[in-house]
Amino acid sequence: MDILICGGAGYIGSHMVKMLTGQGHQVTVFDNLSTGHQEAVPPGVQLVEGDLLRPDDLSSLFSRQHFDAVMHFSAKSLVGESVIDPALYYANNVVGTLNLLAAMRNHGVLKFIFSSSAAIFGNPIQARINEFHPQAPINPYGETKLMVEHILRDYHTAYGLKSVSLRYFNAAGADPGGEIGESHQPETHLLPNVLCSLLTKQKELKIFGQEYETPDGTCVRDYIHINDLCEAHLLALSFLEKNPGAHGFNLGNGNGFSVLEMIHAAEQVTGRKIAFTLAPPRAGDPATLVADSTFARQQLSWQPKYARIDDIIATAWNWHQNQRF
Ligand SMILES: NC(=O)c1ccc[n+]([C@@H]2O[C@H](COP(=O)([O-])OP(=O)(O)OC[C@H]3O[C@@H](n4cnc5c(N)ncnc54)[C@H](O)[C@@H]3O)[C@@H](O)[C@H]2O)c1
Repeated sequence: MDILICGGAGYIGSHMVKMLTGQGHQVTVFDNLSTGHQEAVPPGVQLVEGDLLRPDDLSSLFSRQHFDAVMHFSAKSLVGESVIDPALYYANNVVGTLNLLAAMRNHGVLKFIFSSSAAIFGNPIQARINEFHPQAPINPYGETKLMVEHILRDYHTAYGLKSVSLRYFNAAGADPGGEIGESHQPETHLLPNVLCSLLTKQKELKIFGQEYETPDGTCVRDYIHINDLCEAHLLALSFLEKNPGAHGFNLGNGNGFSVLEMIHAAEQVTGRKIAFTLAPPRAGDPATLVADSTFARQQLSWQPKYARIDDIIATAWNWHQNQRF
C-alpha cells in the first residue's frame, strides 16, 4: 500500500513508519518538524516538510502522489499548554485535520486512521475505561480529539470516509532495535523524565501530586508499548477493508501503574536509585486512567506483546542511553 503518515517524524509516527516499511509498504511522511525530528525518518523514506495549516502544502502533495490510506499522528499534545492557549490547539488539531480531510476528499482517498486519546473521556467514572464510557474531556486538548472523532463520524455518513480512531492511553517504550525513541522538548511524559533524570544531572525528576485517591497517592496510568500501538494501526487498516464506518477503539494494557510504582520498576530495570522531589498536582490530571481494551482485542484481533512494564521500560532505557536526537 501507499500510505501517507502525517506526523511521521514524531515519536509514535516514526515507529509506525519503521513498522510499515519493514513490511514492504510504500510510505511518505508529511511533517512540519515542530516537535518531530528529521533524524527519526529513515533514509529512503520521503519526508515532505509541510504544515497542515497550509492547504497548498497538502494539495501539492496529493496532486503529485496517490495514497491508499492516511495515518494522522500530527497534533499539538501538551494538556497544560492547551489550557493556556486553546486557540493554538483548535487551529492545529481541528483546522489542520479538516485541511487534511479536504485534501483527501479532493483526491478520492477514503481510508483514515486517527491518533485519538484517552483524554476524550475526561475524569473516569469506572475503574477501566471502555468504549461506552461517557466522553467528557476536561481540557482543550481532549476536546480537539473528540471534535475530530465527531467530524469523522459525519464524514463517513456524508462522504463515505472510512476511519478508525485509536484512543491511546500512555504510549511508552522505544524501538527494540534502539534506532528511534521518545524525544520531546519539553518532555511531559513520566517514563522519559524518570530515565533522563538518571542520565542528565540537571534533569530533576518531579512527582506532581501525592494526595490522589489511589493506593499510594500518586497518579495511576496505563502504559502501552509503542510497537503494540503501531500493530493496532496495521490491524485497523485491514479492519476497514471489511468494515466501513467511523470506528473508535481504546488502546491500553489494562493494568494501572502509579508514578511511584513506575519509579520503582525503573530502578529495577536500570539497577540505579532514582531521586525525585515532590511538587503540587498539575491541572487537568485525573487520578487514574486505565483502559479496557477488550473491544479492540476482539474486533481487531489485537494482542499487545509487551504485557510486562519492565520490558517496556527496558526498551526506553536502551534508547535513552544512546539517544541520537
Ligand atoms: N504520546 C502519547 O502518549 C499519546 C497519547 C495519546 C494520544 N497521542 C496522540 O498521538 C499522536 C502522536 O503523538 P506523539 O507523542 O508521537 O507526538 P509528537 O509530537 O512526537 O509527534 C507529532 C508530530 O506531528 C508533527 N506536527 C504537529 N503539528 C503539525 C502540523 N500542523 N503540520 C505538520 N506536522 C505537524 C510534529 O512535528 C511531530 O512530528 C498525537 O496526535 C497525540 O495527540 C499521544
